[in-house]
Amino acid sequence: MEKTHAIKCSDLEKVYGYGRNALKVLKGISLEIGQGEIAAIVGPSGAGKSTLLNLIGCLDSFNNGTLNLLGKDVSDFSVEDLSGFRNKHIGFIFQQHNLLTEFNALENIMMPLLIGRMRKSRAKSIAKDLLERFGLSNRAHHLPAELSGGECQRIAVARAIVGKPDIILADEPTGSLDSENSKNLTEILLELGRENNTTILIVTHDPGIASLTERTISLMDGEIV
Ligand SMILES: Nc1ncnc2c1ncn2[C@@H]1O[C@H](COP(=O)(O)OP(=O)(O)OP(=O)(O)O)[C@@H](O)[C@H]1O
Ligand SMILES: [Mg+2]
Repeated sequence: MEKTHAIKCSDLEKVYGYGRNALKVLKGISLEIGQGEIAAIVGPSGAGKSTLLNLIGCLDSFNNGTLNLLGKDVSDFSVEDLSGFRNKHIGFIFQQHNLLTEFNALENIMMPLLIGRMRKSRAKSIAKDLLERFGLSNRAHHLPAELSGGECQRIAVARAIVGKPDIILADEPTGSLDSENSKNLTEILLELGRENNTTILIVTHDPGIASLTERTISLMDGEIV
């Protein structure tokens, strides 16, 4: 039997714009990432890193090629199927934390579990454990506006991992933090990922962050080099 990869894309192409303004941003990306593998995506600004991550996360459509996630060809999925698949299997972390401003730290972390229909008491206890792991137990009832940037980012990471997704996609998740905090947070993320056999793709400009992963994928001008 053929081995299933967490992520497998072949000749993936993305074009922005039409006609004379058409810009091919991904020029045929082929990539295989195993379940539990942790890789960094590096490359200069404009290379197509975020575009690639968004395609893999089913947040955007591609023009050519195939994308297989967890053994499923997602190219054929309907919009509803895609969003269901995303909620169940993929956690996202963005450069800006994207926390829900009207919910406190604990509630933000509980959210994916509640969306997945977990009982509230159980979701709360799991979220509390994670808060502790991130050293934020004493901030449980603070709103994002009452937290520092680094604290918000830690909560965003906790929220991405709380539902134990198969795949975590992180686009410069610590880009707004200083290098020490950045390294600490990435280490916790990778540690939790390894415990759960989570596949993690992390876009970063920081060689120190890339060196924490087992594999580095370099993108240049829409191609893997
Ligand atoms: N919605 C869009 N419409 C048109 N062009 C776009 C769009 N989004 C991105 N691009 C272009 O696609 C190219 C790749 O963008 P992308 O955001 O993937 O780069 P990146 O590698 O993530 O860069 P950075 O390190 O600066 O975040 C850039 O040249 C960008 O201008
Ligand atoms: Mg980017």
